[in-house]
Amino acid sequence: MQNIRYEHHGSLAHITINRPDKLNALNRRTLLEIEEAVAMAMSDAAVHSVILTGSGDKAFAAGADVAEFAHFTANEARDLSAAGHRIMDSIATAPKPVLAAINGFALGGGLELAMACHLRVAVPAARLGQPEVNLGLIPGYGGTQRLVEWVGRARALEMLMSGDPIDAATALQWGLVNRISATPESLLEESTALLNRILQRGPIAVSHCIRLSALAAQGDPDGYLQEIETFGSLFQQPESREGIGAFLEKRKAAFRSSEPRS
Ligand code: COA
Repeated sequence: MQNIRYEHHGSLAHITINRPDKLNALNRRTLLEIEEAVAMAMSDAAVHSVILTGSGDKAFAAGADVAEFAHFTANEARDLSAAGHRIMDSIATAPKPVLAAINGFALGGGLELAMACHLRVAVPAARLGQPEVNLGLIPGYGGTQRLVEWVGRARALEMLMSGDPIDAATALQWGLVNRISATPESLLEESTALLNRILQRGPIAVSHCIRLSALAAQGDPDGYLQEIETFGSLFQQPESREGIGAFLEKRKAAFRSSEPRS
């Protein structure tokens, strides 16, 4: 990997976009490396969750690499957009929780990447926006859709049409980020703490929460029916036997084989 770092921190994988001199702008290679790293994390049984962040203290990612696409033809641009959609979808539909730790600017493709994640925690000075209209463009990695999903159409249209970024406090108020870290330095620690709470829950149930909530976001009318089917199927899983049994026995559930039953 040239443009990202991939590290294990216990059961968490950290994927760090590593082009700080270009504010972690997402050129094609970087996007493909993120795709590969997410796939690695999902297929590695030792990895239970992923934190995606940017290197340096300025940017999560300041967007698609404008220099790279400056002379693209329409077909090349369409191909890039399609690849971006594929990669964002692979994150959004990932069965293990993926959290964007937004350490600065999350603009354009950077915000689209953060929005594809299941959770977002931002530093107090983060700025989030879709500035593509300044270039005479629109978001190409799902931003017109996911921004509506997270903040509603009125706020999304304001952000999309003005191109103006919002600060972290506004993003929290609008539901675009889940939390703001107390300090820039505590971003990863607080992100890890949030994920660790989730990792104590039933992992199969958590992955169904991701899948079913995506159906709701897509306006899929099948979502309610799938909830009924999934609820039923979970009763066949050892995971629910452990969870229900632990509750009745007044002990902490041990959902993963590595966890002690206490
Ligand atoms: N694509 C390519 N390079 C980018 C980039 C992007 N999206 N965003 C930043 N960079 C590069 C700059 O060109 C600069 O490189 P250089 O030092 O070789 O000239 C470097 O990153 C630092 O950026 P700079 O603009 O000098 O930092 P700044 O603090 O003055 O401004 C921003 C920060 C985020 C406001 C500004 O970089 C910006 O507007 N970036 C583009 C955001 C955007 O439009 N994204 C959507 C693209 S579709």
